[in-house]
Amino acid sequence: MCGIVGYIGNKNSTPILLEGLKKLEYRGYDSAGLAILSDGEISIVRRKGHLEELERAVKESNPEGWVGIGHTRWATHGRPSEMNAHPHIDCTGRIALVHNGIIENFFGLREELESRGHTFHSETDTEVLVHLIEENYRGDLAEAARQSLKRVEGSFAIVVICKDEPDVVVAARKDSPLVVGLGKGEYFVASDIPAILGHTRDVLILKDGEIAKVNQDGVKITTLGNQPVDREVFRVKWGAEAAEKGGYEDFMLKEIFEQPVAIRETLRGRIGADCRISLDEVALTEEEIKNLKKVFMVACGTSYHAGLMGKRIIEKWARLPVETDISSEFRYQDPLVDSDTLVIAITQSGETADTLAGIREAKRKGARVMAITNVVGSSVTREADGVFYTHAGPEIGVAATKTLVAQMAALYVLALYLARARETLSLEEMEKIVAEVLRLPELTEKVLSNHAEIEGCARKYHARSNFLFLGRGMGLPVALEGALKLKEISYIHAEGCPAGEMKHGPIALIDGDVPVVVVATRGQVHEKVTSNIQEVRARGATVITVANEGDEEIAKLADHVFCVPETSEFLSPILAVIPLQLFAYYVAKLRGCNVDQPRNLAKSVTVE
Ligand code: G6P
Repeated sequence: MCGIVGYIGNKNSTPILLEGLKKLEYRGYDSAGLAILSDGEISIVRRKGHLEELERAVKESNPEGWVGIGHTRWATHGRPSEMNAHPHIDCTGRIALVHNGIIENFFGLREELESRGHTFHSETDTEVLVHLIEENYRGDLAEAARQSLKRVEGSFAIVVICKDEPDVVVAARKDSPLVVGLGKGEYFVASDIPAILGHTRDVLILKDGEIAKVNQDGVKITTLGNQPVDREVFRVKWGAEAAEKGGYEDFMLKEIFEQPVAIRETLRGRIGADCRISLDEVALTEEEIKNLKKVFMVACGTSYHAGLMGKRIIEKWARLPVETDISSEFRYQDPLVDSDTLVIAITQSGETADTLAGIREAKRKGARVMAITNVVGSSVTREADGVFYTHAGPEIGVAATKTLVAQMAALYVLALYLARARETLSLEEMEKIVAEVLRLPELTEKVLSNHAEIEGCARKYHARSNFLFLGRGMGLPVALEGALKLKEISYIHAEGCPAGEMKHGPIALIDGDVPVVVVATRGQVHEKVTSNIQEVRARGATVITVANEGDEEIAKLADHVFCVPETSEFLSPILAVIPLQLFAYYVAKLRGCNVDQPRNLAKSVTVE
């Protein structure tokens, strides 16, 4: 999982490529490189480490040229090093290539190519591609790429240039995203739209198995089987400024504060005060919904926590059995899904390899598949039968925040939609829930206004090495997400567990040094959670809680309370998760961590 860019036009490509890579750094940042074509020569600059290292090196050698490609890497095959950084070059030094994905049969291909005299300079799977193209090159780069990609198993998005065709950039994809931006007399290629938004809003989204030949005259898309493709231009509605920090210190903080808007935008037009739920995207008739026997949710990371919450609300409101599974587990367990099952893939990026594989497996077994995603044109949108877009806007911080609350809002809409078709809620119940759902953006703003208190608490505990997060019922997904956020960005060991399970193991961890964060908003199990807090206190732990305003009992028991407004139990997670995002953020900042780009992580995990 890496970020790739390409440029061909009338300007010096170097700053344009670097700027694009900056926007793609969330996809990987252990090394980076550029290949610039000028005066019939290709100059390569590559560096280990963050993009600044590459920028420094570029300043020294100052390569200039109107055609170029670039890459920011997240290592899969071969450690992060200058040698393994892209672009890779063929034996003759004529062809340079960047790649995002994994070439699964690289080992056999490498042996084969070496036996024919090719010399490899890296440990990467990618390098086989450039040597294959070298072998197939007969003066037509696009054709050489097409022939070469036929030999390849795995996933790829590539951009390739050749010094014998200095006015051509070739791009192709399978299972890794790629877009081509259309400027005036210039063209941009990138893994993701924000990388090119500073230059154009007109984009061609490549689909799997397509190859684009880009030159000064335009873009010609064909399939890898050489069938012409007529692709409509997609006009991006959000601007480059949406992907900038807008005065905040970090993208993550900006995105946390954008959550009221993310929820409002996701609900907009889909849920009305008159209980009208519009969700044509589901692509299921009322009859089909009535006949559903089961729902399966598949997701990874933070999206999985949205799924855990979704399970509880769909079961409660629509009275349908729901299983939520981690995609990488689901795909290999011979899941019990069939044509009466709705499988919902929850994935903010729409590119997570395990989730995509999960829905392929579900489709193979005849299930209906729906995706909840934030990225228009992402891979999942092409594979699912129906797509429910969240409208959180681009999320740059690697740790998901606003996309999570947008997923939760989407799941509320979906649960109500299913409930309506199945007639499992009375009109009165619907009205009550809808009114509360519509208040969520406003309530979210209230939660955010308590940020200074949360920061104060973070100051007290940021130096601790272990945290325990507890929750029950609707509070459990929140506790799991709180622990995940903290470990992701602060590198503190944090464990999330069901409060009722504590006595079966985690309680042994508790002593005066381990702060315990308890999600204790009101609901069915509130008393039980209160008892759990007592048990924790009795063992000398500091207790931080997320509780409702005016909950005096919890306030007396806890050392710190992050207050959230009272709402129905089933809507409480979307509010309760926000203080925990902020807590993780402030703790990580106080520890000097890079919150937007935590070590070893990437925003979009396109490898298994
Ligand atoms: C990565 C990100 C997480 C995200 C997970 C699932 O691990 O760092 O923030 O929750 O992928 O991503 P998805 O795009 O499928 O929601």
